[in-house]
Amino acid sequence: MEVTRDKAWATLTRYTTSESLRRHALAVEASTRFYARSFREDEELWGCVALLHDFDYEMHPTLDKHPQDGAPILRQEGYPEVVVDAVLSHAEHLALPRDTPLKRTLFACDELSGFVHACGLVRPTGLEGLEPKSVKKKLKQPSFAAGVHRDEVYAGAELLGLELDEHIANVVAALQPIAGELGLRTTADAA
Ligand SMILES: [Fe+2]
Ligand SMILES: [Fe+2]
Repeated sequence: MEVTRDKAWATLTRYTTSESLRRHALAVEASTRFYARSFREDEELWGCVALLHDFDYEMHPTLDKHPQDGAPILRQEGYPEVVVDAVLSHAEHLALPRDTPLKRTLFACDELSGFVHACGLVRPTGLEGLEPKSVKKKLKQPSFAAGVHRDEVYAGAELLGLELDEHIANVVAALQPIAGELGLRTTADAA
């Protein structure tokens, strides 16, 4: 089957009712698409993988099931192995090789998108004017967005061969156009 955003969105929303999980999927999608464009890769495919990476998390919220028990469902729905394989690779506990640019990008965008999103939620202007410097400062505060694995944020930038500042700036830029969908304030709201 052809992998399209409509199909990936339909799969995601069939298994995921939580607004915050849907927003996480959208945030990782936007960041992954940003890199697909910059690397001149298949943006639609990369975006679909990102949308789907946690599609089974609501029904499989523990690491003995997520994401490995979701994989057969994706195959059943007709997704090709390139999608299933990339989805599986985002999980640290499975220790699968991140041997393609798509896998490296998905991993690099997963935790950082969540973290930047969290930074935006506590600012009156959301993501506008959010500097890498202040994101890095928050990364050093263990109590802020405590669920985000800092080591994975740092490892992700390294995997992409980017300075952390640049990776953060890219993710902020990627999320800005969908700030409204992510429940973030914008200066337009404040005006
Ligand atoms: Fe996950
Ligand atoms: Fe995720």
